Amino acid sequence: MTKHPLDPLTASEIQLAVRVVRDKSGLDHTGWFETVTLDEPDRTERQAQRNSETVARRAYVCCYEPSSNRTLRGTVCLDHGKLLQWEHVEGAQARIVSDEFDAGDRIVKADPRFREACVRRGITDLDTVLVETWAAGNFGDGDEEGRRIAYCHCWVINDAGDNRYGRPIGKLHPVVDLQSGKVVRIDDFGVVPLPPDTASIRPVQNLREDLKRIDITQPDGPSFEVDGYHVKWQRWQVRVGYNLREGLVLHDIGYRDGGRVRPIMHRASMAEMVVPYGDPSPGNFRRNAFDTGEYGIGPALDSLKLGCDCLGHIHYFDVCSHDWHGTPHEIENAVCMHEEDFGLLWKHTDAQTGKMRAVRSRRLVISTIATIGNYVYGFFWYFYQDGKIGVEVKATGIPFPSAIAPGEESAFGAIIAPGIESHVHQHVFSFRFDMCVDGDRNSVEEVEFEAAPVGPDNPHGNAIRILERQLTSERQAQREIDTSRARYWKITNPGRKNRFGKPTAYKLAPGANALPLLDPQSPVAKRAGFMFRHFWATRYAPDELYPAGWFPNQSTGGGGLPEWSAADRPLSDTDVVAWYTLNFHHLPRPEDWPVQPVVYADFHWMPDGFFDENPALDVPPNDQL
Ligand code: CO
Repeated sequence: MTKHPLDPLTASEIQLAVRVVRDKSGLDHTGWFETVTLDEPDRTERQAQRNSETVARRAYVCCYEPSSNRTLRGTVCLDHGKLLQWEHVEGAQARIVSDEFDAGDRIVKADPRFREACVRRGITDLDTVLVETWAAGNFGDGDEEGRRIAYCHCWVINDAGDNRYGRPIGKLHPVVDLQSGKVVRIDDFGVVPLPPDTASIRPVQNLREDLKRIDITQPDGPSFEVDGYHVKWQRWQVRVGYNLREGLVLHDIGYRDGGRVRPIMHRASMAEMVVPYGDPSPGNFRRNAFDTGEYGIGPALDSLKLGCDCLGHIHYFDVCSHDWHGTPHEIENAVCMHEEDFGLLWKHTDAQTGKMRAVRSRRLVISTIATIGNYVYGFFWYFYQDGKIGVEVKATGIPFPSAIAPGEESAFGAIIAPGIESHVHQHVFSFRFDMCVDGDRNSVEEVEFEAAPVGPDNPHGNAIRILERQLTSERQAQREIDTSRARYWKITNPGRKNRFGKPTAYKLAPGANALPLLDPQSPVAKRAGFMFRHFWATRYAPDELYPAGWFPNQSTGGGGLPEWSAADRPLSDTDVVAWYTLNFHHLPRPEDWPVQPVVYADFHWMPDGFFDENPALDVPPNDQL
């Protein structure tokens, strides 16, 4: 089958790319593979491909070479098996991969200082201990400078064997050099008693008995059509994609209207995330997980199960990840796609005649779930019949637990179980949208409102002024939500007008959100500058993909969005990329233990003058299906 230039890499393509790099790049025998993933064609190449020109398939490959402590990267032409480009990225550290987690666990357990520290805590069987090698960040520690460092957190696996995070070992943090495979030091800040409970998350004995079955049936099959990774559903068209770093990526999002598909977004993804924890105590100030840029969402995707993760008629997409040898690893059922009934779409009852018309809403759901250590993130994309696009994060799993001595109060968190505190933190996601509302030339607008002063034009003080302004350059387009002004942003096409002569547009409608509660000069704030604005817009550039830069692991910061937008490139009638920062603030509750009920955080893109009227008037009522 001919592959589309945006189809995820197959196992054989990963093998080919690995072979080419091994043979041609000069990587020595110690080198291993951080990333082998699709090198996507840029906007110019996509245009050529739409004009039926052939576009070669390429792989992006990033390696780490322990013998030289170098991170190297390049691209491979998969059609001709050629190394196109190869470079050493000065000062960069590759992501931490899961094989390094296993290696780190072994390295630490082999160190006598660690064994002694465990014995001091009454732990003699190291097989019951879990050591996690977290990215160390960059705190200017001379010991760590220029080395590939991981900062570890430790647990005793519970007796039931179903909660590896149930019994945190307090204040014990081995520091590992992943390059040399040696323990640099053991940060031991004092013994804290092990939490007494085993925190089993197995189903309890007495399951409730008053729950009746619910079945979702679609006797006529689903309403979507799938061709490889291309999907048509109702008026929507979208292409499902995947990469090692971001996991699920959506391409070529468009809406069929009057016989043609009107483009809206070239590409949409969750491009970076960071979870800064708010406990300043020794060791714990290190906890700032960039799950995308430091570890990668792609390899962490779950294989989803019908009836558990998903209900109804599901179409699953498989994707291909790999280990550090570059051996491909198929993740079956990594992406779930199905339709959902979503309550009312619209309704009107005529009071005089009693005539009622009600139409139910259906949405297409494309989703993935990533398990990253203790935490679980669902990334859900929704397409609605009225042209709306929803983006939702679902957070579940186990809140990060720390041991606390009996009787002590949690200073920067909450006691959530006997002997366990969980610290206040924020989950901050950066979504990237490569926009093409009705075509490639777009502009950016801000809309907000204010109460007009009382005066001759506003005698009763009820007037609400609508303030619309263009954000004409990148520095202007760095904005925060303001609930006192009901602020939002629009991506418009000045060259395409609706029937009222206004540019066609999509609006970014924020939902619940927060701002970072960090000193802007703190090390994590410098590495994640993107989180200080809810909205950013930048001029499209092919390599500006990740808002904390390409290599956040151990970086000193400043890269990504703050750096690119300092150029202050103009944003009118041009190639626009919109970025949205979604922050949810989390002080764990007792009810979040031992496993947290899903917390939802979301926002929407809505057509705003993109259509001339409600585009869903033609959706048939359910009784006419
Ligand atoms: Co949380």
